[in-house]
Amino acid sequence: MKVIDKQTVQRILDTADIVEVVSDFVSLKKRGANYIGLCPFHNERTPSFSVSRAKGYCKCFSCGKGGSAVGFVMELEQMTYGEALRYLARKYHIDIAEVELTDQERESANERESMLALNAFAAEHFEHNLTDTADGRDIGLSYFRHRGINDAMIKKFRLGYAIDKSNDLLNAALNKGFHDKYLIDTGLCSKSDRDGNLYDRFRGRVIYPIFTISGRVVAFGGRTLRSDKQVAKYVNSPESQIYHKSHELYGLYQAKSSIAKKNKAILVEGYMDVISMHQAGVENVIASSGTSLTEGQIRLLHRFTENVTVIYDSDPAGIKASLRGIDMLLAEGMAVKVLLLPDGDDPDSFAQSHSSSEVEEYIEKNETDFIRFKTRILLKDAGNDPIQRARVIGDIVRSIALISDPVTRTIYIQECSRMLDIDERTLSLQLEKATAENTEKRQAADKRSAYTAPAEAERPRQEINLPIPDAQLRRSEYALTKYIVKYGLLSIALDMDDDDDQTTADNSISVLSFIKSELENDEITFSDPACDKIYRAAIDLCENQWPSDLIKAQENLDRHRRASLAQGQEEIRLQAKDLADIQAREQQLIETLDAEYNQTLDDFKAQYLEEIFLSSPDDDIRKTATQLAAEKYKLSKVHTKYSQVETERDRLSELVYRAVLELKFAILDSQITELNTAISSTNNDPETAQRLLQEIFELYKLKAEFSKLLGERIVNPL
Ligand code: CTP
Ligand code: MN
Repeated sequence: MKVIDKQTVQRILDTADIVEVVSDFVSLKKRGANYIGLCPFHNERTPSFSVSRAKGYCKCFSCGKGGSAVGFVMELEQMTYGEALRYLARKYHIDIAEVELTDQERESANERESMLALNAFAAEHFEHNLTDTADGRDIGLSYFRHRGINDAMIKKFRLGYAIDKSNDLLNAALNKGFHDKYLIDTGLCSKSDRDGNLYDRFRGRVIYPIFTISGRVVAFGGRTLRSDKQVAKYVNSPESQIYHKSHELYGLYQAKSSIAKKNKAILVEGYMDVISMHQAGVENVIASSGTSLTEGQIRLLHRFTENVTVIYDSDPAGIKASLRGIDMLLAEGMAVKVLLLPDGDDPDSFAQSHSSSEVEEYIEKNETDFIRFKTRILLKDAGNDPIQRARVIGDIVRSIALISDPVTRTIYIQECSRMLDIDERTLSLQLEKATAENTEKRQAADKRSAYTAPAEAERPRQEINLPIPDAQLRRSEYALTKYIVKYGLLSIALDMDDDDDQTTADNSISVLSFIKSELENDEITFSDPACDKIYRAAIDLCENQWPSDLIKAQENLDRHRRASLAQGQEEIRLQAKDLADIQAREQQLIETLDAEYNQTLDDFKAQYLEEIFLSSPDDDIRKTATQLAAEKYKLSKVHTKYSQVETERDRLSELVYRAVLELKFAILDSQITELNTAISSTNNDPETAQRLLQEIFELYKLKAEFSKLLGERIVNPL
């Protein structure tokens, strides 16, 4: 596997002009210092998408999407980081020098890469069989024809056929020089226990390749063409180093841009459902491949949209079985709708027997909000049996409790109160209980996943039903992280303690160093994984890359300053009246140049971390930083005597200081809450209770001190 070397990455990021990059997708008009156009991420009539060349950054003021050049392309084209870099490199004719990896990296990359290469070969081989061999045409192709699939879809989904022989693919692959090992690892062949020979796994089946989001083939599904029940209907590639069934969604590669554009995905069951829907012109369709959805699949989908419509064929047993899977979608923060097809239809047959506008219209008219759908179905079952009804109510409230948005939750409670004919307050009480239970479960799961599945634990979880102190803690952490991202290297005054003690000449410190020393003093770490990552990355950059970049920037500025000075001096000589005039003018020139120098250097510092984070290959860092940087420019209500509006940057010392205190405050609050909970579960053990009370008391004292500090320092409340 080749990776792009660091310098080239930097060159690409430096060269890519955000205005030019965005212009390829959006027509922009100049407005003041920025450019503005219609947002490509949502439908709008008046432009709210703004691009700043100076900041190298674009953003929609309406939907909030945007980012750096690389982030923008990734989001819009649903590319990976590497794909986006290559795209930009092509655009700017930058040659990519790809570097080799370390031995260890190469070994594991080699293995994956060899498996992918073999799969790529196999996919082509199967495709070729389908159209260019007699068996393929007579059996495979005629089957697809019979199912109403056209050539365009066969191409788009790269459908194929496996010849009904035990060594067709095997021999072709060996001839091409592929090793036995990879034939076995990918599961394309298996070794016979009897004679130790290799045999093709897929024989006499039509083939559906399974793609990753970047379009590489990681597995195959093969459908038998025989109708007898002796053979398995589908044979699929086994799990392997490159294929984790629970992390792939069939059709996502072909559907992703449509999903992003429509901001909605349609979930169906099988390969054929996806393909027939595409053929009918509905392209935002993906399949779970028969099994119930996994958390990994939902997270993958969530990167593209938070709206999903699940299509069921109207078999009642099936519906009930899948209600649980839908709860998982809710828990991951998705907004779920449900669509029932007419009796006897599945998406495949429905799409095949209706025009594309009929399909679209049917979906639009018939999709129902999930909670309403579930309530209706369960209620119908329960009839008037009070015990059944109570069970239904509990079940529905548990689903509602999974929804992260409190407003939506309230609306559902009101609506269900009507549908179920139960007092709203009763439902609210039950909701509170269910919410608390969910939080507990989630925390337990978080703890477990921290040890067992690091890859899963990496992505930040949706903010779901955090108890209030935790939400406050999280907000404080994000506020502080925002200052790191936006202003980490700028200096702030260090006169926070009593002024008279501070007699050192340089009273300033960078925002980042200040935060670092404050956190380390109190042994605080960020509990939110994304904040923690950004904090650590900032410190790493500051210690390693920043010093030399700063020197380079200063050298550039020095050169520029010297040139401007020389040029200015020459002009002065030509224009000045006498020596005194020369001196006065030169004095003025030097002051102007100094001011310019400092301003430019300050801007460079201000932009340094933000720029790197906005184009970071790490999803968590890039996305969180984009979000934080995009936060609307908050103008304070305070005006100076010159009536200029003060900006965040003008009041940086105060704001950062306050943010640090607020974080400490939130930590105290969360500790107090914990102790209170502990007290209520001490079961009349007076000694323990006494001790806990004492601890709480100490925390309150600390809190009071902090409050005082906050009050004193914050002259202008926000
Ligand atoms: N599936 C599977 N293995 C099986 C059965 C099913 O992987 N033994 C998956 C396939 O992804 C399949 C989906 O579950 O597409 C739905 O199964 P089914 O409805 O039986 O298949 P269809 O895709 O509808 O296939 P067809 O219409 O050709 O019968
Ligand atoms: Mn089917």
